[in-house]
This record gives sequence, structure tokens and C-alpha cells, in this order.
Amino acid sequence: MIVLDGKIAAQAIKDKLKAQVENFTANGLRPPKLAAILVGSNGASETYVASKVKNCAETGFESLLIRLDASVDETTLLQTIEKLNHDHTVDGILVQLPLPKHISEQKVIETIHPAKDVDGFHPVNAGKLVQGLPGFIPATPYGIMLLLEHFDIQTKSKHAVVIGRSNIVGRPMSILLSSNIPYGNCTVTIAHSHTQNLKAICLQADILVAALGKPEFVTADMVKPGAIVIDVGITRVEDATAKKGFRIKGDVAFNEVAPKTTAITPVPGGVGLMTIAGLLTNTLQAYLNNVTA
Ligand code: GUN
Repeated sequence: MIVLDGKIAAQAIKDKLKAQVENFTANGLRPPKLAAILVGSNGASETYVASKVKNCAETGFESLLIRLDASVDETTLLQTIEKLNHDHTVDGILVQLPLPKHISEQKVIETIHPAKDVDGFHPVNAGKLVQGLPGFIPATPYGIMLLLEHFDIQTKSKHAVVIGRSNIVGRPMSILLSSNIPYGNCTVTIAHSHTQNLKAICLQADILVAALGKPEFVTADMVKPGAIVIDVGITRVEDATAKKGFRIKGDVAFNEVAPKTTAITPVPGGVGLMTIAGLLTNTLQAYLNNVTA
């Protein structure tokens, strides 16, 4: 069994991106720039956005963090996005989700210009992914593809089961794995909350992607011996003995599942770090499209 270490894979990708950025700036070009909007002060969102900003700096990207109060009205948020759409020095825009209930996430997603939508959530980019056209792929599934590539995990003709059908992870993941691309060409089953016989379906998976957001949902009895297991879960679970008062748990019961697998991602230190690698890769692409346009 090998542990698919996201730290190693993400660092390798960041090193390559950094070298590319250094090359551009040495030739007189500005560095890529990511704008992140954080509404309110959700603890997990704060952590994710801080990590995105930190990773930008480590890779030679500029970043702009715009913090808005949780009570901000939808119009103000949409106007903030429009301003960034028109700012030629900004290559990528992301609005950290979830948003407060009084704001329509769909409207926000559709206001970001598709050319700057480095989260890949705009319907234009989602449609391009479905049709195999170049566009931005949501960072988490993209990061997982980069992880499979880094560790050269063979996927062709395998049966992949994806648990979860969110627009952010499960659905785009299922499309990528079934696409005729490197580290794709799987036969894919998408399982969700209405799936019957989930255990029997999971037991057929050569590649099992758990993206449902339920801590330790996938147990050893659901995993085919020799499977590749990708754990997308990052739920905060209260733990008084932990320094921060919580622990991060994946969707897979790692200790019992890992010995049955050929390869498995840890939590933390797996997919989460790859999400940032995916985001930075998208931002560099947005920059290239922008500066060479
Ligand atoms: N919330 C959870 N995952 C994501 C993500 O990939 N991007 C954004 N913007 N918000 C998220």
C-alpha cells in the first residue's frame, strides 16, 4: 500500500509553477494575480482562504484578499466581482463558498467572468468540461487528476465509483475520470444519497472517490482488496484533546481501509493540498490566456 502524499505532489507542482512565473517576470512580465473574496468569518473558510493566499506568495503569484462583512448585500458583492472582472491586473477570481443564506451562490458564480473563473464553477466552464473543451476545471477534481498523474496511477478501463454528485467535486470528478484523457478512460458510477446497495457498488470499485462529507463513512467492508481510494472529506469534528478543539476527518476510515488498498490519500495531507495546486495551475492558465491575448 502506498500513501498518496499530497504534500509531495503539491510541492512538485508548485515548484514547476514557481519556475514558470520566475521565467515570465525575468522577461519583464508581471506575475499572475488571484483575487479571493471572503464573506463573513466562517472558521473553515478563513483557513482555506489564508492557505490560498499563502500558497500564492510561495509560488510567486500576487494575491488580493477582499474581506466583506457577513451582512453585505448581494448587490455589493456582485459589484465587487464586476470590478474585478474589469481589472486587467487580476487573472483569477474566487469567492469562497459557502456564502450567507441571503446571497445567491448561483448568481455569484454566474457573475464571475468565465475567463477568470479559476474555480471552474461557472456553467460555461462546467459545460466545456462536459464537452472536453479547454476551460477551467474545479480545483479539487483537477487536483485529484494531478495527484493521479504525479503518482502515475493507471486508470484506463478501470471501474471508478464516485460517492457524491456536487458541482464542486463529485460531478466534475466523474466527468474527468470518464473522459478520453490521460488518467481518465474509466467506467464511472456516481453514487449519491438515493443510491441503493451502496456497499455492493463500492465493492466493485477499482478506484473509489469519497466526496460526500460524512466523516469515516467508507469502512473496510465497502472496499475491494487492492483498490485505489481517494478521500475528499475534510470535516471538522470536535475533539477536546486537540489543540484547536477539533480534528479534521476524512470520509474514509483510514486506519481500517488503508491496509486493504493499493494506494490511498491521507486526511489531512492528501486531496486538500492538491486543491490548491489545481487552483494555482488554473490561475497560471488564466494569466497566460490574459497576457498572451
Ligand atoms: N468551498 C469549498 N470548496 C471550495 C472551492 O474549491 N472553492 C471555493 N471558492 N469555495 C469552496
